[in-house]
Amino acid sequence: MKVDGKPYRTIWRHEDGWSVEIIDQTKLPHEFVLAQLTTLEDAAHAIKAMLVRGAPLVGATAAYGMCLAVREDPSDEGIDRAYQVLFATRPTAVNLRWALDVMRDAMRNLPREKRAAAAYAKAAEICDDDVATCSAIGDHGLSLIREAWEKKGRPERVNVLTHCNAGWLATVDWGTALAPIYKAHDAGLPVHVWVDETRPRNQGASLSAWELGRHGVPHTVITDNAGGHIMQHGLVDLCIVGTDRTTGTGDVCNKIGTYLKALAAHDNGVPFYVALPHSTIDWTIDDGVKEIPIEQRDAAEVTEMTGRAADGRIVTVRITPEGSPAANYAFDVTPRKYVTGLITERGVCAASPEGLRGLYPERSGG
Ligand code: MRU
Repeated sequence: MKVDGKPYRTIWRHEDGWSVEIIDQTKLPHEFVLAQLTTLEDAAHAIKAMLVRGAPLVGATAAYGMCLAVREDPSDEGIDRAYQVLFATRPTAVNLRWALDVMRDAMRNLPREKRAAAAYAKAAEICDDDVATCSAIGDHGLSLIREAWEKKGRPERVNVLTHCNAGWLATVDWGTALAPIYKAHDAGLPVHVWVDETRPRNQGASLSAWELGRHGVPHTVITDNAGGHIMQHGLVDLCIVGTDRTTGTGDVCNKIGTYLKALAAHDNGVPFYVALPHSTIDWTIDDGVKEIPIEQRDAAEVTEMTGRAADGRIVTVRITPEGSPAANYAFDVTPRKYVTGLITERGVCAASPEGLRGLYPERSGG
């Protein structure tokens, strides 16, 4: 997507040919700043401290982290260590494990001197695949937005609610949940987006609002608790969210608060769709609520907020009483019964084992 007329991806190889550049998302929406990664530790820090975030981008950054590691130490032990360091950064998005497995497999049987080149080639392939995948998700999701608009008699606007940031900043390009919205907007549909602010890190208010605004998509930021109310009043035609891990049976893990939106959508007859690439499906587990590890982050993300003050300074302020403990569960799981459909690069399917295996028949045995 473009920033001030210049096309960007969220991660790319620096012109020096080996280091890696990213957009430092902790600085958005107030500053657009790039960061350079030169070591395995830089890549691990970028993921853990959320300079990059979003399941597909976490995977892509881990892939380049492996490149930076292997460049310095191409031994089997070096590869294993890099795998463990990166794997330990964040527990919930399964794209991390997926990307690390793909990278390790690409190098395993090669002589040491060929491993770095193979790693860079594979990381680039992962990124290109993500862009094509997200674009295809956008095409399939566009049909759903068009259907909702036509079913309602082509009103002046079709309202989509989204949670967190599952736009191009969360992937290499296009996004998952926002890809259908960009495609709808570009096709001339009058799409308007309700953007959940998404406490505590405010990925909706800071990132989704920023990227939708840059692309000229009409949107309105709402508090996390407003979704139920606007659904009751007919102001949401469909919800589209992303996911960090979807089980092979269709349970969906996503940013904390997604489950409550799904419940509200269910109660109000609003279709609730989840957009995801193949790399987000965890075929090894069946029960999302019991089996997906939910990240618990620093309580300071709850007790403090950062923003731009009237004088232009970026400031962090405390919003809770000194001494009040805070808990910071970063994700929740929406059981498949509340999910209307999964939007994948291969089409839209039911959130069920049959639905997913219909689209991914190669997984039928596993
Ligand atoms: O904690 P984050 O910002 O990495 O969480 C991101 C999300 O929950 C996204 O909705 C999810 O990764 C889908 S991204 C296309």
